[in-house]
Amino acid sequence: MSLLKSYQDIRKRSVEICKPLKTEDYVVQPIVDVSPPKWHLGHTTWFFETFILKPFAFEYQEFDPDFNYVFNSYYETVGARVIRTNRGNLSRPGVDEVYRYRKYVDEAMVKFLEEVNLTEAQKEVMILGFNHEQQHQELLITDIKYILGHNPLFPAYSQSKLIPVLSFETQDLEDENQEIQHPEFISFKEGVYEIGFSGEGFCFDNELNRHKVYVYDFSICNLLVSNKEYLEFIDSGAYQDFRFWHADGLEWVKTNQIEAPMYWHKIDSEWYNYTLSGLQLIQAENPVCHISYYEAAAYASWKKMRLPTEAEWEIAARNLNWGKRWEWTESAYLPYPGFKKAEGAIGEYNGKFMINQMVLRGASEATSPEHSRITYRNFFQPDLRWQFTGIRLAK
Ligand SMILES: [Fe+2]
Repeated sequence: MSLLKSYQDIRKRSVEICKPLKTEDYVVQPIVDVSPPKWHLGHTTWFFETFILKPFAFEYQEFDPDFNYVFNSYYETVGARVIRTNRGNLSRPGVDEVYRYRKYVDEAMVKFLEEVNLTEAQKEVMILGFNHEQQHQELLITDIKYILGHNPLFPAYSQSKLIPVLSFETQDLEDENQEIQHPEFISFKEGVYEIGFSGEGFCFDNELNRHKVYVYDFSICNLLVSNKEYLEFIDSGAYQDFRFWHADGLEWVKTNQIEAPMYWHKIDSEWYNYTLSGLQLIQAENPVCHISYYEAAAYASWKKMRLPTEAEWEIAARNLNWGKRWEWTESAYLPYPGFKKAEGAIGEYNGKFMINQMVLRGASEATSPEHSRITYRNFFQPDLRWQFTGIRLAK
């Protein structure tokens, strides 16, 4: 597919994700981790304006010189910016203006892509921009879910069961025709394996270099932990039992009075969860979702097992059914041997976050199409659970 076609398709998808929103939904920031949808739409546009149009497009006129301050996320190289917690306080630029900004930049990008023969370096930045926007598409879905799912009225993102732009069902329904699968542990032999990206195509810098790892005999479950299994953990009183928790995890449980996954609500002694179609009864066989690392690790400990390391996960991936939940691993997010940061702002993309975060592997239902691979390293702080995160056991 041409770069132009990819550009147009990816940009269109972000707008389509926002179509069911009301204007007010675009603006709020209920917690620091959740950015207003309006900000995501502006920030992804800013990325192309800042890293393609301003340096490379002849005679390009910036849409608004003040937008760099508003839509720069974390790039120190590119200057000062609005602090993250204040993204939701920006009533201006308005939603209409942000859409005008997108249109203006899109027109300039189309002209640029039609008229210029891109160098290899420019192509690399373009493709990084595509992947960046796809990452923000997943954040748009998870942030919209948080905004609506924490509204006391629990409004649905959509009443229709399947929204074409999201490749998954918004209702948390079980597929009645699907055979119930039984968990099985797949064993792997002790030895030297290789992990990390190699070959053609795009990867993020944090997937490099491909390198050798030594692992001991291990086995890993073919399935993710289900809601039904997680309910047993809740019902056993494990949230109140210090034996299963890291010290930080127990502190987090107590401080925040956690007693179930995010979006779970007990109503008349039945568990419901908020889905993009509104509040629904928990579906027993579906993989549990919106789990923190602390909860994933405590669940594994309660089962007298553990979470896989990221190396184990990658070694086993071809034998696993993955892609529904981001799977917490036992691995801290650290550079691979030989990891190099790019020069300039792009070098700030991943490397500077390699502290105090855990690696998640796989992908989720909310991940953009063609944005997953077995070497992909996602990462979040251990208390965060607004992404579509789940649990896979290893031993
Ligand atoms: Fe970003």
